Amino acid sequence: MNLLEEIRQKARAINQRIVLPEGTEERTLKAADQVLAERIARIILLGSPEEIIKEAKKFNLKYVEQANIVDPQKHDKMDHYINLMVELRKHKGLTTDEASNLIRDPLYLGTLMIKNGDADGEVAGARNATSDVLRPAFQYVKTLPGITVVSGAFIMILKDKEFGNDGLIVFADCAVHPDPTESELAEIAVATAKTTKAIAGFEPRIAMLSFSTKGSAKHELVDKVVNATRIAKEMAPELKIDGELQADAAIIESIGQKKAPGSKIAGSANVLIFPSLDAGNIAYKLVQRLAHAEAIGPVLQGMAAPINDLSRGCSVSDIVNMIAITANQAAGK
Ligand code: ACO
Repeated sequence: MNLLEEIRQKARAINQRIVLPEGTEERTLKAADQVLAERIARIILLGSPEEIIKEAKKFNLKYVEQANIVDPQKHDKMDHYINLMVELRKHKGLTTDEASNLIRDPLYLGTLMIKNGDADGEVAGARNATSDVLRPAFQYVKTLPGITVVSGAFIMILKDKEFGNDGLIVFADCAVHPDPTESELAEIAVATAKTTKAIAGFEPRIAMLSFSTKGSAKHELVDKVVNATRIAKEMAPELKIDGELQADAAIIESIGQKKAPGSKIAGSANVLIFPSLDAGNIAYKLVQRLAHAEAIGPVLQGMAAPINDLSRGCSVSDIVNMIAITANQAAGK
């Protein structure tokens, strides 16, 4: 069974409630129908019930009626969520009037449902930009204890099975935090270790990447990765982690032995932590295109509850997979 089928299988067993704020978006609706047909998760669709039912009929979607459909403009919990928003953001000066407007935005409603325990996870982004999906999540769901930054991992499925864990390598951060400090980079490594175990299903062997291996170059950017590696070890002493390593030293045995003799990670890393979002985002896209790797993600990590962002170019099956991943994250929380 391949990794994505395993993830869907696990999701079926745990039956989580996933909220889809873009309930009237065509691919989202088709994905919801497939998820319900295959019993991958319970679905909450946000949007006008009339419009959702009309669209479902148009596309001959028979299972959408099993979803819990919530109209962001009128529902029983509106006042409760408005009060919760004001309570959670009073230090930022949020007024009741402002909250009353925001709660009608399905992206805010989805996060409030999660915060209030009415949903287990959220998937959005087929229609909305990354920043619009993430902002309400950052403001209301917030991060896990001990973590201050959310980041995004990709599980790369390589054609060449010689690398990583039988061809699986996890890359992070490729999606969220442009310029992490050394302690934020350490948090990203710790969060990625959790994602690797929970979603990719293997023991992480983490390389903290740099343009230097074990002091081969001297620069403040190298110091940042060295310090991040030390902090990550302090945060999670059980982690199998090493740095700073160049990419070739991290993944190729003979080069790892030459450049980082004695390292337990060099040459056999299966998790690569990039020093910046520039590096991580560029690397995953190049590996995806030039090496024809499959890129599963971004899997957002570090959030107190799972909320995942889609690319606006996503397919129906990308959304189904992301719902299954989100359900797995919710169950592992
Ligand atoms: N983790 C946790 N919280 C965060 C993070 C983070 N990484 N970034 C911002 N926040 C919080 C802030 O602390 C703040 O909280 P507060 O209101 O309680 O004080 C809130 O979010 C808003 O902060 P801003 O600085 O105003 O954040 P902004 O909305 O401007 O930016 C964003 C956040 C959208 C994630 C920004 O960092 C961004 O655009 N990142 C790049 C995303 C992107 O374009 N990725 C590449 C494409 S994805 C792909 O290719 C797969």
